Amino acid sequence: MNLPTEDLINSARDIIKQSERIVAFSGAGLSAESGIATFRDHKTGALWDKYDPTQLASQEGFRHDRKLVIDWYNWRRQNIQAVKPNSAHQALAKTKTLQNQTWQHVTQNVDNLLERSGLDEEQVIHLHGTITRNHCNSGNCDFSEQVDLANPSPLSQCPQCNNDYLRPSVVWFGEALPDHAWGKAQDACSNCDTLVVIGTSAQVYPAANLIPIAKQAGAKIIVVNTQSSGASGIANIELIGAAGDILPQLIDSE
Ligand code: OAD
Repeated sequence: MNLPTEDLINSARDIIKQSERIVAFSGAGLSAESGIATFRDHKTGALWDKYDPTQLASQEGFRHDRKLVIDWYNWRRQNIQAVKPNSAHQALAKTKTLQNQTWQHVTQNVDNLLERSGLDEEQVIHLHGTITRNHCNSGNCDFSEQVDLANPSPLSQCPQCNNDYLRPSVVWFGEALPDHAWGKAQDACSNCDTLVVIGTSAQVYPAANLIPIAKQAGAKIIVVNTQSSGASGIANIELIGAAGDILPQLIDSE
């Protein structure tokens, strides 16, 4: 990997410094240095190399083997609970106290590492939901609950309607993104000066559309990734390297 030159880092830093409204749009690469596997990056033990997404992350898979799906999410929950935010999460959390800039955080990650690094829950838009909650799988029941990540409950029926099972509050393939989150993310990206795209292959839609949405609205695009990605072609500046090394160099704290 060729590390980005100091000039390139400085140019990205200047763009960020001169911006008033910034959106950080992240994917699994943001949490990779904490020890959470990505989905498609073979170097970081890509989950979709080992597991079948249609079996584990779809309504069809859940109907076929509910216990398998819940056990897999509970294994991931325990992994997330066992790791810590890394220096990239911490750099993003520092934006909370900046006086002259508004940062919004849009993530495809279902983990809670941005919140655990200090951002408030309402500051993080989880486009693909969150693994920290369960809800009833029935479309007709509004039951939802917080999950103890260290001791998640095994497969269980919904205690409210008794008609269907509880499932993790994440977006599965074939499901729509949560309306509220998607609306907020589109607004944020249509109104930012700079979009910092961190650790995402930018291959999963509609989330990846946020990048052209921001570009068309006139934002500068800075991409941070260990390799080229679906966002490379649209980037004003592409910084090839680990988020944990690069983000602390881009973001000033006051
Ligand atoms: P991917 O696994 O597709 O991509 C992870 C990206 O992170 C890759 O481009 C890596 O090169 C990069 N990367 C790895 N380590 C990094 C590091 N230390 N610093 C910077 N970059 C690094 O993950 P996502 O793009 O998040 O959706 O995947 C998007 C969605 O696909 C996920 O939210 C999930 C998945 O299927 C659902 O489950 C619905």
